[in-house]
Amino acid sequence: MTQGLKIAVIGGGSSYTPEIVEGFIQNYGQLPIRELWLVDIEAGKHKLETVGALAKRMVAKSGLPIEVYLTLDRRQAIEGADFVSTQMRVGLLEARKWDEHIPNQHGVIGQETTGPGGMMKALRTIPVLLDICKDIEELSPNAWLLNFTNPAGMVTEAINRYSKVKSIGLCNAPIGLHKWLSKKYDTPTNRIYTEFVGLNHLHWVTRIVIEGEDKLAELLDKREEYSGKNVPATEWDADFLRSLGGLPSYYLKYFYMTAAMLGEQLASLKANGTRAEVVKRVEDELFELYKDPNLQEKPKQLEQRGGAYYSEAAVNLMISLYNDRRDIQTLNVRNGNILDFLPKDASIEVNCVVTGNGPIALPVSNVPEQAKGLIHAVKTYERLTIEAAITGDRGIALQAMASHPLVPSVKVAKALLEEMLEKNKLYLPAFFN
Ligand code: G6P
Repeated sequence: MTQGLKIAVIGGGSSYTPEIVEGFIQNYGQLPIRELWLVDIEAGKHKLETVGALAKRMVAKSGLPIEVYLTLDRRQAIEGADFVSTQMRVGLLEARKWDEHIPNQHGVIGQETTGPGGMMKALRTIPVLLDICKDIEELSPNAWLLNFTNPAGMVTEAINRYSKVKSIGLCNAPIGLHKWLSKKYDTPTNRIYTEFVGLNHLHWVTRIVIEGEDKLAELLDKREEYSGKNVPATEWDADFLRSLGGLPSYYLKYFYMTAAMLGEQLASLKANGTRAEVVKRVEDELFELYKDPNLQEKPKQLEQRGGAYYSEAAVNLMISLYNDRRDIQTLNVRNGNILDFLPKDASIEVNCVVTGNGPIALPVSNVPEQAKGLIHAVKTYERLTIEAAITGDRGIALQAMASHPLVPSVKVAKALLEEMLEKNKLYLPAFFN
């Protein structure tokens, strides 16, 4: 049998796949892949065939000895895999549209991963991921599962707590911040050190060291920020930011500037439809491009998506795990004793030394007091949601919905839960059996 790694990408029909294929091609020297399996479900077959054909053209153009397989049989892909990566959207963008639309109808933030929308995505996704984990435990127990599927932090916590699979959660925000800092300060990313405190999509960057100098105060003072393509750009209050103690994740705008962000969402809803509908148009355009038999590389348009560069994070992680590189990466891992006010088995987003035996979370220098309350409140919501996803218990689901800081009252929580569970009936067997 020829040497080399077997990698399975679950959700391989995603419009993001050309990114990760590009990453595998560019880093073949440090990550010698023999087999790349792209896996999807019947409903995504047409996407898998289109993006899979592009993946094959990209690999053929590279001349590398990587075999690309397309399959609807995930067990075949998982069997003997060294790495399994997940990037799926249960219910596709149609489900996301309602995750974003229904809360807006109740005067609440409607968003892919944050608030009631993120809760529904978690309820749909966690059972599916745990089912995949059963296959991994049976067919590739030593594989690393790199989870990109959102809400990445919550989903990774569910996997770490309810399966034996070695799983690490990833997001593209940390690498996006490094790219932004690298450009702004004209400094290579390996001369930049940032310290993340908090959860996925709910972090404060409490140290930003460029060539040995901490630039945090300067960045806070100028209200400069790195923002994902998918979040409106509402301005931070200068005094608030200066005293916040860390550069906030752009998702924190939903919590600190809720009314302004809701206003922007409602305006955008009227003009363009939900973000899901905007993204659907981008995705349709991408798939038209992908169909072109002459296209043999990742099209620039992919960088319009909020998840841009996620593949660089994924490939970086695989390279470090495979080569025991011991570099520092910001990942979603088990808390342990890092944040002493959270449960040890909570997932947090934190800097880790990546060794061949897995990531080792690094202690954080300081946790701004003003961040602790929100971190704890959202983690409580997350853990209630995980429990609801697994049990299908409507009482626990109501407690989760009501405990999210963006849900204003029990009355709204009940109405939202009722309507959103009904809308997601097809994907929530635990709630409707
Ligand atoms: C952000 C997040 C990703 C999320 C993406 C959504 O960058 O880090 O986790 O999936 O935006 O982007 P989209 O283009 O789908 O709205």
